[in-house]
Amino acid sequence: AKAARPRITVIGTGYLGATHAAAMAELGFEVLGLDVVPEKVETLARGEVPMYEPGLAELLRQHVEGIGGASGRLRFTTSYEEVADFGDVHFVCVNTPQKHGEYAADMSYVDAALDSLAPLLRRPALVVGKSTVPVGSADRLAARLAELAPVGEDAELAWNPEFLREGFAVEDTLHPDRIVVGVRSERAEGLLREVYAGPIAEGSPFVVTDFPTAELVKTAANSFLATKISFINAMAEVCEAADGDVVRLAEAIGYDDRIGGKFLRAGIGFGGGCLPKDLRAFMARAGELGADQALTFLREIDSINMRRRSHMVELTRNAVGGTLLGKRVAVLGATFKPDSDDVRDSPALNVAGQLHLQGAQVTVYDPKGMENARAIFPTLGYAPSALEAVRAADVVLHLTEWREFRELDPAALGEAVAERLLLDGRNTLDPALWRKDGWRFRALGRPTA
Ligand code: UGA
Repeated sequence: AKAARPRITVIGTGYLGATHAAAMAELGFEVLGLDVVPEKVETLARGEVPMYEPGLAELLRQHVEGIGGASGRLRFTTSYEEVADFGDVHFVCVNTPQKHGEYAADMSYVDAALDSLAPLLRRPALVVGKSTVPVGSADRLAARLAELAPVGEDAELAWNPEFLREGFAVEDTLHPDRIVVGVRSERAEGLLREVYAGPIAEGSPFVVTDFPTAELVKTAANSFLATKISFINAMAEVCEAADGDVVRLAEAIGYDDRIGGKFLRAGIGFGGGCLPKDLRAFMARAGELGADQALTFLREIDSINMRRRSHMVELTRNAVGGTLLGKRVAVLGATFKPDSDDVRDSPALNVAGQLHLQGAQVTVYDPKGMENARAIFPTLGYAPSALEAVRAADVVLHLTEWREFRELDPAALGEAVAERLLLDGRNTLDPALWRKDGWRFRALGRPTA
């Protein structure tokens, strides 16, 4: 008889966990998702998503038990007992934020998840870490699992970092560029091959390695991406000094296959819940390992990135005549990137906040991030549309590259503003289009006219 398919649980139903749970159900598995926050569980059990992520709500509604027409393969709970009884493979998807006032990652949610689950494991189980962690964590967690699990050696750990991007979470989970697993046994490898059989069959490379390498692949990948962005932003600084055009420059170097054109968009830099904190946690961990010298360049990557934000503020101040006091600034974009409602460490909001502190009257509009932005910066002004946001503005700032902003009508906006002055912090608007309608248009790292 054909062996039953492994049953899957997903611990932590934030961004990563909710997407992973829905994707596993889509791949045909029975899935139980756990969160310690009852409201999150209730929301997901209704087939609703607590954040904006294209395609995720649809996927949930196709699988959550009790929803008309759904497969019923996906359920949610707050009970670790239920999870331990149900699952063969347990994915740990809780977050590891930056520690307050330090560079290091806060491991308390990961530790709590393992300490809650392990003592309840009475049947064979593979616990698979997905969270981004300091290298060495898997080793430590494996020892802890061995110490706590009643089932003994039949409870095992594996490490399987996640590379999904917000805005493409569903797509990236179902069709990953690669699957990386850190394992210590053939059984663990076999189980993970079974779980990912679908994507593997479609051609996703499956990289099998040890714990530390698996953990490092994740931080190395994010550090490389951050380095690419800061590299092009450093070139933008030089272009600005030399009156060159960083957009053309990026295009031209990108044609070299060895360089590649992706992640070379110069602008106000990277933000979000991952890249900035992963860089810092990586440096902190390297320091603990006595390898800090190897990563001192990441400090520079981080500071080039932070400089972009203050540069944008400075550019705005200069563009409106040297002082921001009482100036009306319209800010288009609040999220850290388009197709997301996430404002964690958002460069756009950071710039908006700095302008406000320097006395400007700031009005923000974002297609999806308004609620989250307001929660962090209640003192900024908010408008229900781009057109409303720019009304009577002395300057308009484009800070998150939503598609909606590329489709704005420069003539219509021109009627609403006090000054036709636009600063593009993302280099995705067409200067010619705006200049044609009488706008003074400035972009980061591009010639003034
Ligand atoms: C990033 C990685 O891309 C994912 O592979 C990884 O799984 C994820 O972090 C994570 O660690 O969980 P994400 O944070 O969703 O994904 O966002 P990105 O698409 O990487 O963008 C990050 C920031 O860089 C955004 O603020 C974006 O505006 C900025 N960026 C990106 C640029 O300024 N220029 C570029 O060329 C590309």
